[in-house]
Amino acid sequence: MARLSHSIAILTKLQVSCIFVLLTTVMPNVEARTHNLTWKVTYEYKYLDCFKKLAIAINGQTPGPHINATRGDTIIVTVLNNLLMENVAIHWHGIRQLGNGWNDGTDSVNQCAAMPGGYFTYQFVVDQAGTFMYHSHYGMQKSSGLYGLITVNPLLGEETPYHYEDREIVLSDWYHDSAYEHAVKLSSKPYVWIGEPQSLLINGRGRYQCELLGVSNHDQCNGSRTECTPDVVKVKPKQTYRFRIASLTSLSALSFQIEGHKMTVVETDGVHVVPFVTDNLYIYSGETYSVLVTTDQNHSRNYGISINVIARKPETPNGFAILNYEPNPLDAQHLPQPPPGPLWNDTDSQRNQSLAIKGLRGYVPAPPKTADKVLHLLNTQNIVNGFKVWAINNVSHALPDTPYLVALKLNITDVFDPTPAPEDYDHSYNIYKIPENTNATTSTSIYRLPFNKTVDIILQNAKSMGGDSETHPWHLHGHNFWVLGFGKDKFNPSTASLNLENPIMKNTVPLFPYGWTALRFRTDNPGIWLFHCHIEAHFYLGMLVLFESGSDMVTKPPQQNMGCGKTKNYINP
Ligand code: C2O
Ligand code: CU
Repeated sequence: MARLSHSIAILTKLQVSCIFVLLTTVMPNVEARTHNLTWKVTYEYKYLDCFKKLAIAINGQTPGPHINATRGDTIIVTVLNNLLMENVAIHWHGIRQLGNGWNDGTDSVNQCAAMPGGYFTYQFVVDQAGTFMYHSHYGMQKSSGLYGLITVNPLLGEETPYHYEDREIVLSDWYHDSAYEHAVKLSSKPYVWIGEPQSLLINGRGRYQCELLGVSNHDQCNGSRTECTPDVVKVKPKQTYRFRIASLTSLSALSFQIEGHKMTVVETDGVHVVPFVTDNLYIYSGETYSVLVTTDQNHSRNYGISINVIARKPETPNGFAILNYEPNPLDAQHLPQPPPGPLWNDTDSQRNQSLAIKGLRGYVPAPPKTADKVLHLLNTQNIVNGFKVWAINNVSHALPDTPYLVALKLNITDVFDPTPAPEDYDHSYNIYKIPENTNATTSTSIYRLPFNKTVDIILQNAKSMGGDSETHPWHLHGHNFWVLGFGKDKFNPSTASLNLENPIMKNTVPLFPYGWTALRFRTDNPGIWLFHCHIEAHFYLGMLVLFESGSDMVTKPPQQNMGCGKTKNYINP
């Protein structure tokens, strides 16, 4: 009898797995959809934090519309540039674009940005389930509000450890100055720093204290506008929700927390995390996370959600939203207390959380055990020709007028500096000293990496000219990398502890003050890809490098990717 029930159990298991195999093999073709989107990009006056400012909107919305797709779907977005006097390019951050570099949406790298009155049609497949984002990749345009969230759901029946109702959270920071003022300040001699943002936004809503402007000008700043009331996240008691959180800040690193609720971190940048519980989530610009939140608290009241600046001395008030336990009313007189958030300068706590993020076995491939090539990248601030810049191994990278990939494919020379970018730096460099190296340069040079190889990147932080060491979120286009480790001080290959067992894969990762971050990736995506600090001002000041690999395999440039720089006179044969 025992034997019989045992075999029945086996049979049932077999049947279940048969159904599962059927679902996963049959469903993709059945379910794959094409999303045809038309996005009109305009400038509009918005009161995102009660202060009237021109923001970039997509079909009237800032942040832009949320893309909700299923793995395997094709997204076709026609971006109509109605900005009147400014180009536009949109990058699909975290979407790998395997073999599809022409659609990465990066001005000066893969395409000429669309001109006013023009358009660009992006087409790509979302091949990974998870949480991603999109944003402008033209100059510092992202900080004008051109961004949004992308959710890619697993296929119906696909094995996935979690299935909960989603809540979307887009985090950003907001300046009252325009991106033009920022660009002019940063490129001045002497250099003028842009300062801290005026507000933090949750789902595009913040609250600036209009009284700070003196006599309240009701058109310029008006605290009674409904646009700048806090976002309301509606939940029902005794449920578990998956919060999909993306940070699109231009400067600020953040801590995110929900009053009275713990969070279980389960995903980052589209990759499953070994679940861990935390009171607050540190999130750096360019990162996404999914956290599970169970509404198990006293259901007769609402709760506060807050974000606060970390890693820089905060001068920006915390951002705030409301977790509304339905059907509780939203009583403006008794808004919940936003949780205060952790200390801004507790680097150990920030590094420890990054170290706690491990890849979930069965979902995240193990990394190759060794690397074919190692790049050591020292992050410093330098003066070049009297301009303050950010430099990698003493080279501050400038983007050419002609996109790299187009130049490579059409063999247009004189577009970028053919000298290979430096793969190492002088390891006697003192990372605790104010940089005084006078041999820093600005260049358009690139790294040429062998195709289908394993490459390690050791990011090394140092003191900047302001006398401190900053946190830099580094983002890689076109790939996920394994995060092998984070450490304090100078990287030492013989003592550094690296995780080769279950590292997470990500596309964006912080480099902590006076520390190092070690990454490993496969050069399996032909083309040329940006790797850069996701802080808008740092990127603008040259904190970027380019990895070329297998670009000979890339198809000819589509006509719409050309039209600028030296590509003007080329007609695609
Ligand atoms: Cu999200 Cu190159 O950026
Ligand atoms: Cu940076």
